[in-house]
Amino acid sequence: MNEKITIGKIQAKKGKEPIVAITAYDAPTGAIVDEAGVDLILVGDSAGMVVLGYETTLPVELNTMLTFSQAVARGVKKAHICFDMPFMTYHISIEDGLRNCGRAIKEGCAESVKIEGARVELVRALVECGIPVLGHLGFTPQSIHQLGGYRVVGKMEEEAERLIEDSIALEKAGAYALVLETVPEEISEIITKELKIPTIGIGAGRFCDGQIIVLHDIIGLYKPTPRHARLYRDVHKDILKAVREYSNEVRTKSFPQNENITHLTEEILKKIRESRNKR
Ligand code: KIV
Repeated sequence: MNEKITIGKIQAKKGKEPIVAITAYDAPTGAIVDEAGVDLILVGDSAGMVVLGYETTLPVELNTMLTFSQAVARGVKKAHICFDMPFMTYHISIEDGLRNCGRAIKEGCAESVKIEGARVELVRALVECGIPVLGHLGFTPQSIHQLGGYRVVGKMEEEAERLIEDSIALEKAGAYALVLETVPEEISEIITKELKIPTIGIGAGRFCDGQIIVLHDIIGLYKPTPRHARLYRDVHKDILKAVREYSNEVRTKSFPQNENITHLTEEILKKIRESRNKR
């Protein structure tokens, strides 16, 4: 039986069961979140901040994302894998967007792409090519300078109306689901009710059809923990403890021990010693 979670299975959850989505950027964490049973793994350009140490997502390159996505795909068996298209890989022209999104599927081994903003024409063109698109509206981190910094989008009437209209336009263009980031709960509730496709919220309240989160934000690998996230475990503390213990044991010579060591057979050791003595 094919266990793989398809966009159809994700869509079928709307109104029935919340969709669980999370980011991953490498094979081991991809495998762990898959084993935990999430529905969708986003190979997010948040990697730029939480893995590569940039201040924003803007410097992330397509080739870097391809490497991350290939690694995730090697670790994942079941969850749907979505490729987050980095800044300026789909903005220049429809043709350029199609080419780059095609690489995400062909080379990145992803099953859909996520693009920020109401790029309706591009979404339509991608869907026509058979590339499923996850839309992303509200606070769109690649437009951080245009938006004037990290902020809630859709608090004022005009911006809220635009958000609702853009959501409808993306659904009409063929997006299979829509991420709503940092928008007032009342707006994401209205959009969730208006759309037939599922909404997946991050900092968008309780009424979306699912939630998405950056893995590193909920395990303490990126600090401070953003307001929209919850610290479920502090892996930072665990790694710190493990590396301090290791350092201490190296310095006090209690690591490595016999179980960590490989020995030669007496016979080979004897031969080597004899050969050394002849020199
Ligand atoms: O890059 C990312 O991780 C994202 C999510 C926050 C939706 O875009």
